[in-house]
Amino acid sequence: MPVAHGLHRREALRQLSAFLLASPLAVGADKPELTDSTQLANVFDFRDLARRLLDPVAFDYMAEGGKDEISLAENRLAFRRVILRPRFLTDVHEISVSTELLGREMDSPIFVCPAGGKNCFRRDGEEETARGAALANAMYISNGGVEEFLASGDAPGHWWQYTTGGQFLTENTMLDFVERLEDSNCTGICFTVDNMLVSHRERSIHNGLVRTWCNLGAIPRDEDGNLVRSPSDRTWITGEYPGRVSPTPTWDTVKQLRDMTDLKIMLKGLMIGEDVEKAVAVGADAVVVSNHGARQLDHTGSTIEALPECVEAASGRMPVLVDGGFRRGTDVLKALAMGATAVGVARPYLWGLTCFGSEGVARVLHLLKTELALDMGMSGVANIADIDASLVRRRNWSYEGGLQP
Ligand SMILES: Cc1cc2nc3c(=O)[nH]c(=O)nc-3n(C[C@H](O)[C@H](O)[C@H](O)COP(=O)(O)O)c2cc1C
Repeated sequence: MPVAHGLHRREALRQLSAFLLASPLAVGADKPELTDSTQLANVFDFRDLARRLLDPVAFDYMAEGGKDEISLAENRLAFRRVILRPRFLTDVHEISVSTELLGREMDSPIFVCPAGGKNCFRRDGEEETARGAALANAMYISNGGVEEFLASGDAPGHWWQYTTGGQFLTENTMLDFVERLEDSNCTGICFTVDNMLVSHRERSIHNGLVRTWCNLGAIPRDEDGNLVRSPSDRTWITGEYPGRVSPTPTWDTVKQLRDMTDLKIMLKGLMIGEDVEKAVAVGADAVVVSNHGARQLDHTGSTIEALPECVEAASGRMPVLVDGGFRRGTDVLKALAMGATAVGVARPYLWGLTCFGSEGVARVLHLLKTELALDMGMSGVANIADIDASLVRRRNWSYEGGLQP
C-alpha cells in the first residue's frame, strides 16, 4: 500500500536522522555505519547527511562560494524566476532522457563536473567518483590522478580531462599532455578558463584551511580535535596582491591547442555571449556556462540567467552546457528548455561521495535522472528532443521581494 510504504520510508529516514543526530560527530568520533542510500529522498538529504559526517572545515570548503556568496545564493534563487508551462494529454507512457553530445549518446543529459580536493570528502575521492560515474553511465570530467583506473575496463565510457592550462606553458608540455590523452580513451579536454586567479573563499580563510589538505587527504586533527599544522603549511589569507609567475592562457592558447589535436575541446566557465562567439571562432567544440559553482568572481549573477545570451551567441554552432546550483529535475528541465544540451553538477555528487563513496555518486546521479524523467512526463514531454522554449516562461530576473534560497 503506497501510503504505508511512504510512512515506512519516512520512519526509516527519521530513525536514521535520530541515530545520526545522537551520535557524537565531533571530529575523530566514530562515524555511523551507513548501508542504505535509498533511504535518502533527494540530493538535499545527502547534503544534510554529508554535513553530519564531515569535518566542518571540509564541509565548508565544499559548500562555500567566493566573497559574500551572492552568486552562490543566486545560482539557486534564479530557478524560481523560470516557470514551467506543462502540456497535458500527450502520451508519456514511455519517457527517454537519453540525448546526444558531439556525436556521442548520453544516457542522461546530467554530467559530473570537475572538482578538486575530493580526498577530504572521501579517501580515493577521484577514483570513487569515476567509479560512480561509470555505475551511472554518466559523462565524467576528471581532475586527474586516476589514469590507471581510466585505462581499466571499469572506467566511465565518456570522460574528459580537466585542465586550467598548467600544461600549456610551452609547446612541448602542451604536446605531451595532448599525446597522453590521445593515447587513452579520453573524449576531450575540458579547459576551465575562470580560475587563473583564485578567489577569496572566506569560510576557509576563517577556518584556517591549508589548501593542500584537501588534495592530500582528510583534515588533520589531534586527539583533542585541534587542527594540526606543519611549519611548511600555508594557510589561505587575504591582503596579498594577486599575480602569477607566468603569463595566463589567452584565446591564442586555445587556438594553439586546436591546431595541435583532434580531441574535442570544451571551454568551461564562460558567462557572456561575446566569449561564446570567440569560442566558436577559435574552433572549440563546446562551452560550459559556469561561474565555478560561484566559487570564483562574485556578483556574476546565476548561470541560468547567463544561459540565454550564451545560447543565442552559439546559435546552434556548438552545444552549450551549463552548471551551477542544479539540484532538482525541474532545474535541469528548465535549462534544457532554455537551450542547454547538458547540465553539470558538482556538490550533489560530492555529497553522495561523502556519504557512500562511488555508490553515493551513482545514487545521486540516478535520483536527478529519475526526477528529470518524472518532471518531463508531468510536463507532457516524453523525449529530450521534444523539450523546447515553449516549456518555460521567464519572470523578471529581479530578486527584490526577499526570495530565500
Ligand atoms: C569542492 C569543489 C571543487 C571544485 N573544483 C573545481 C576544479 O578543480 N575545476 C573546475 O573547473 N571546477 C571546479 N569546481 C566547480 C565545478 O566544476 C562546477 O562548475 C560547479 O561546482 C557546479 O555547481 P554546483 O556545485 O552548484 O553543482 C569545484 C566545485 C566544488 C564544489
